[in-house]
Amino acid sequence: MARFTLPRDLYHGEGALETLKTLKGTRAMVCVGGGSMKKFGFLDKVTAYLEEAGMEVKLFEGIEPDPSVDTVMRGAKEMEAFQPDWIVAIGGGSPIDAAKAMWIKYEYPEITFEEMCVVFGIPELRRKAKFCAIPSTSGTATEVTAFSVITDYEKGIKYPLADFEITPDIAIVDPALAETMPQKLTAHTGMDAMTHAIEAYVSTANSDFTDPLAIFAIKMIQENLIDSYNGDMSKRATMHNAQCLAGMAFSNALLGIVHSMAHKTGAIFEDFGAHIIHGAANAMYLPKVIAYNAKDETAKKRYGVIADFMNLGGANDDEKVANLIAFLRDMNDKLNIPQCIKNYGADSYPCEQGFVPEEVFLERLPEIAKNAVADACTGSNPRSINPEQMEKLLKCCYYDTEVDF
Ligand SMILES: NC(=O)c1ccc[n+]([C@@H]2O[C@H](COP(=O)([O-])OP(=O)(O)OC[C@H]3O[C@@H](n4cnc5c(N)ncnc54)[C@H](O)[C@@H]3O)[C@@H](O)[C@H]2O)c1
Ligand SMILES: [Zn+2]
Repeated sequence: MARFTLPRDLYHGEGALETLKTLKGTRAMVCVGGGSMKKFGFLDKVTAYLEEAGMEVKLFEGIEPDPSVDTVMRGAKEMEAFQPDWIVAIGGGSPIDAAKAMWIKYEYPEITFEEMCVVFGIPELRRKAKFCAIPSTSGTATEVTAFSVITDYEKGIKYPLADFEITPDIAIVDPALAETMPQKLTAHTGMDAMTHAIEAYVSTANSDFTDPLAIFAIKMIQENLIDSYNGDMSKRATMHNAQCLAGMAFSNALLGIVHSMAHKTGAIFEDFGAHIIHGAANAMYLPKVIAYNAKDETAKKRYGVIADFMNLGGANDDEKVANLIAFLRDMNDKLNIPQCIKNYGADSYPCEQGFVPEEVFLERLPEIAKNAVADACTGSNPRSINPEQMEKLLKCCYYDTEVDF
């Protein structure tokens, strides 16, 4: 038996934000990031709509990108003091994910972060509050997913929390919020969404319920991401929906090792001055992982179906896989995303010598590979992998070399 879970309600399209006026409750805690939502006036609107609904509103502001365990614990304390019956998270994946983890800690003050990380082990929520998520980036789809990604900065590792308990009650997918995204954010979050859809389609947990969402999302992203990146706001609105469809697919079909690798490389080189941004990491690793996974016959066939759906041509599955890889690499070029870690600059743009020195990468590689294999996303990858193979694959992602094993 398998389970398919989505939020109870999804409000979408222009003006969807106004739905907040109809929520029923007494106190709403609004969780938000560093300032973009305030700057563009969305935070004021959220507060006004919730007040119109008769609620007392308190803000938890300043949630950082790639949120920390520490931020989660601080937010939960504020919730404990305020006792909200609604948690409303607005912004990119980071503030929404942080708010999800705060929610768990608010409902169960004794729970430790380690206990939260037990996959599908989160106790029953909604005893104190319900959760509404409003995305302002077009990528993570955390507004509809059973996941939250929290970074333990002591270890330099991202931990995905996973349980349908943290699937939000309400998702508001309003295209106006995505319009203010700068180009780089549009590129990274868009390729994150493409990775979600492709990983979900080939995942061992794929199903008749997730396949249509995944494959249609892939096509929508193929047709809209580059123009959205170049400023076409009608395509950007379509991308906002596409990423959400991809999220519905992967929340139920799970992901694969592109995400395992992105989680374990994202913050591990922080001491050299930067993160490898989640979507950019996925964009660089996805073509390599497709080449690795295509050695599995079932996965190869599924990549072939994707390539056909995208009209990429190819006389057999091997050619179709090669065309899919070429297409994704070309997207990276058009979106100004490097093809490998060696060429990933501290500003995330392609450059001759990236911010991760070769000797540091090689020194940390065994640990990264071990952690990536142990990541929660590895279990549903279509081809199994051991730490030794993972080291080889990560080396291909560093040097941009052929995956021939
Ligand atoms: N929960 C999930 O299912 C899931 C899936 C994939 C990734 N993630 C996680 O989500 C995080 C990344 O989230 P993200 O890519 O949405 O970015 P983010 O939330 O980290 O935001 C990045 C930056 O963009 C700014 N920003 C956000 N929206 C904006 C807008 N509309 N206009 C202008 N600026 C805006 C923010 O202020 C921030 O500085 C990572 O930690 C990643 O691991 C979670
Ligand atoms: Zn992702």
